[in-house]
Amino acid sequence: MPDNKKNSNPATLQDQKDKPADKLWGGRFSESTDAFVEAFTASIDFDKRLYKHDIEGSRAHAQMLNKVGLLSDKEVTDILQGLDEIQDEIENGQFKWSLKREDIHMNIEARLTDKIGIAGKKLHTGRSRNDQVATDIRLWLREQIDLISNEIRRLQTGLLSVAEQEADTILPGFTHLQVAQPITFGHHMMAWFEMLERNHGRLQDCRTRVNIMPLGSAALAGTTYPIDREYAAELLGFERPCNNSLDGVSDRDFAIEFLSAASLIMMHLSRFSEELVLWASAQFHFIDLPDRFCTGSSIMPQKKNPDVPELVRGKTGRVYGDLMSLLTLMKSQPLAYNKDNQEDKEPLFDAVDTLMGSLRAFADMTPHIKTNKDKMRAAAMQGFSTATDLADYLVGKNLPFRDAHEVVGNAVAYGVNTGKDLSEMSLDELRQFSDKITEDVFNVLTLEGSVAARNHPGGTAPDQVRRQIAAAKDKIKG
Ligand code: ARG
Repeated sequence: MPDNKKNSNPATLQDQKDKPADKLWGGRFSESTDAFVEAFTASIDFDKRLYKHDIEGSRAHAQMLNKVGLLSDKEVTDILQGLDEIQDEIENGQFKWSLKREDIHMNIEARLTDKIGIAGKKLHTGRSRNDQVATDIRLWLREQIDLISNEIRRLQTGLLSVAEQEADTILPGFTHLQVAQPITFGHHMMAWFEMLERNHGRLQDCRTRVNIMPLGSAALAGTTYPIDREYAAELLGFERPCNNSLDGVSDRDFAIEFLSAASLIMMHLSRFSEELVLWASAQFHFIDLPDRFCTGSSIMPQKKNPDVPELVRGKTGRVYGDLMSLLTLMKSQPLAYNKDNQEDKEPLFDAVDTLMGSLRAFADMTPHIKTNKDKMRAAAMQGFSTATDLADYLVGKNLPFRDAHEVVGNAVAYGVNTGKDLSEMSLDELRQFSDKITEDVFNVLTLEGSVAARNHPGGTAPDQVRRQIAAAKDKIKG
């Protein structure tokens, strides 16, 4: 019965003719891949970005195979030479990317075999694309984390220079976006510095878990060859090989951790952005942003729009989206590798590009922020920003804080009715509310007196800000 025969042996002569000869895995298949499916399942359009790290991983794998006797010296030399040439071809734009070869791994491997023959076909011994891709992404992300960390340092350095210049500059500090107490601009910059310092720490922490090597996990269970994983890990600068091959090929926690650290950085940049946008508005006019970081309006000639901070604020959503993509991608996946995982790359690439661009724009712009000291000072003079200082003064004169709060509340109500700030009232006017108030009150009602009095670690006094700056400089040097 011809039908049965065909079923029991699908590789008939006719089928052999249709076999996907161009596929590295074509052996068990009896017909070519559907053209749309080929394009739909391919990742080469985006994972070509991993070429350098794929080659780096292959070099280490080949050297390891040579060390354990699975590749001869000649074979490994040919492989390394071939991989070098392929890297040149890619970097010179001569490499012919092939959709039929699906992804970066098979594009490079197939090209290697085109170039050097049999030795190229031996490169994949004891390896699978599953451990290969997991290794590539970790190598790539490790490098990106280092670049992003440098960019954070550059932004922090810019903040330190502004903080140093503006250690004595006074502006109103806000809570609920209502004037609260006077602070120094340097202190405000150092708050941003601290946020970035935590981000830097989170990236370093994440890096320790990125820096574990999946290579050697093969498809999922490990390999029958006597591989030396420690040696490959050493060549690639990994801390160690992963402990479990199933986990090694399927784990993407490290990417999710990175994306959550990236989301926090963007959240912080978005908060800085919001303040810059407010401060650059005509109503605040605390700062001027350099023209080269702003754009105009096609209709309103007077406009100078703070596009960079606005755009960074807007881009924050993309990175949150990338984090959600990966969390959702990994949810419910059974062990070990699933094709779903091919979807890990685009969100990761997008987040890295968005984050790098945003940090770069901020690092370039920040040292050139110009402060408008008069405007800030005038704003700090409004809204009774030294009311807490008056209450503290009365506490110093033996009034319980709650009673002092009440006294100052009455003085503020009087100020609202008469249109006077506390510092603009005469001694007699102030003494209506408490006879404990004497001439020395005016020392605490000035803006300078107010900020200088908060002279403890973490406080806004210019002396403390300078101390913070010095400590921060030491920290980022190391
Ligand atoms: N392009 C694939 C990815 O990005 C490589 C791994 C494919 N492995 C497989 N067994 N199909 O995940």
